[in-house]
Amino acid sequence: MKPIRKAVFPVAGLGTRFLPATKAMPKEMLPIVDKPLIQYAVEEALAAGITELIFITGRNKRAIEDHFDRAPELEAELEAKGKQPLLDIVRNVIPAHVNCIYTRQAAPLGLGHAVLCAAPIIGDEPFAVLLADDLLDAPVSVTRQLVDAAHRHDGSILAIQTIVPEDSRKYGIIAGTPMDERNTRVERIVEKPAPEDAPSNQAVVGRYIFEPEIFDHLRRTHAGVGSEIQLTDAIAAMLGSRPVYGHAYVGERYDCGNKEGFFKATTALGRKYHGLVPD
Ligand code: UTP
Repeated sequence: MKPIRKAVFPVAGLGTRFLPATKAMPKEMLPIVDKPLIQYAVEEALAAGITELIFITGRNKRAIEDHFDRAPELEAELEAKGKQPLLDIVRNVIPAHVNCIYTRQAAPLGLGHAVLCAAPIIGDEPFAVLLADDLLDAPVSVTRQLVDAAHRHDGSILAIQTIVPEDSRKYGIIAGTPMDERNTRVERIVEKPAPEDAPSNQAVVGRYIFEPEIFDHLRRTHAGVGSEIQLTDAIAAMLGSRPVYGHAYVGERYDCGNKEGFFKATTALGRKYHGLVPD
């Protein structure tokens, strides 16, 4: 498999579960303590050797572009006041050798459609997809774990975790043949099944490595569950022609796309990385 240099960050969802906070900015800009969700995901990608960051933006793209741009006035002000540690924080958001590319999803037609918007930029190489509302706190970047698995198995890789059966309606659920302790060759994948229809308790979370063939399948994918063009349906279509593996990553996941997960992440990371202890 070719090296994996590019990562796609779909950030064009409406984020309705966080209204009104997401009325004028993407939910991926919501901070856990002092860092927006999107920056946690970007740091994870950088730790996996990614050098091209491709953001699929929607209506409210400004905040993300501004966050990853230089901020000359702010930097000058911090420099003049001798606030070096803060200046370093502001300057080091993106290392100099990394490129940010922005493209627009004209309407939020679904995650599959958002990923397809990256096709002209990706070309014919494997790439990562990171959903920033899944915050993964791990000793080794989860994207790095997936990149390593992709090179070992020469196929697409989906991050998976075990869920309680009642939660199956929130996820894509896989079934397949275990290859080793952490990797399962996927034979079936179903989007948001009812518990009685779920083929297993192995759920896909928001990290993927794809071979470029996924775009052929996305182009042929019609709207599915929720009338959205579903990434899961394109993955299901690809199973017949290319290998896909589920990889049980090492790390803690916080689903920051809902209030409960967001709150848990804030308290857990606040304690762990900032020494914050609620009264
Ligand atoms: P979600 O399913 O969480 O939807 O999207 P959402 O619109 O962001 O949030 P709610 O459900 O209204 O609260 C999963 C990921 O896919 C992106 C989102 O930005 C998020 O990262 N997405 C979803 C797009 O980029 N475009 C879409 O059309 C849909």
